[in-house]
Amino acid sequence: MSRWQAGRRHQVRFSLNGKPCCGEAEPRLLLSDFLRHQIGMTGTHVGCEHGICGACTVEIDRQPARACLTLAVQVQGCEVRTVEGLAPSPDRLGVLQAAFKRNHALQCGFCTAGILMSLDGFLRERPRPDEESIRDLLSGHLCRCTGYTPIVRAALEAAAELADPGREPTDA
Ligand code: FES
Ligand code: FES
Repeated sequence: MSRWQAGRRHQVRFSLNGKPCCGEAEPRLLLSDFLRHQIGMTGTHVGCEHGICGACTVEIDRQPARACLTLAVQVQGCEVRTVEGLAPSPDRLGVLQAAFKRNHALQCGFCTAGILMSLDGFLRERPRPDEESIRDLLSGHLCRCTGYTPIVRAALEAAAELADPGREPTDA
């Protein structure tokens, strides 16, 4: 018999933004709903719920993943990072977040958490990306109000700052 029994709630233990976390989930519960409704991490947004819009993107074991295509029970023992984990402290923005703010790379913000989480993982693996590769990454995210030019600008600026931490951020 499968370890995960339908209709039964299972304990899910994982690391969330660097801290141990635990919740209960039926095997069919989506990670996006689990994070938002059980754990209270509402920074992870839900748009299409079938892997297209990218709004629900989180990091699982340091890889960007669609929370709407992942079951909560699948993160048992994993390291999960959400947009709430990007800021170094409650009163300071992370490098990517600050670049988005400076460059007016968001309006309603609905898509922003997912884009930030995809970029966070991407910039770790590609510290000096070109514009084309950023645009390619953003093709997996739908933003219906900002337009992609300021998002690309913010991503390039954040990449430059992360690659050279002593560099002064550009004023937008
Ligand atoms: S809500 Fe997950 S990709 Fe759209
Ligand atoms: S900022 Fe509104 S959808 Fe992207």
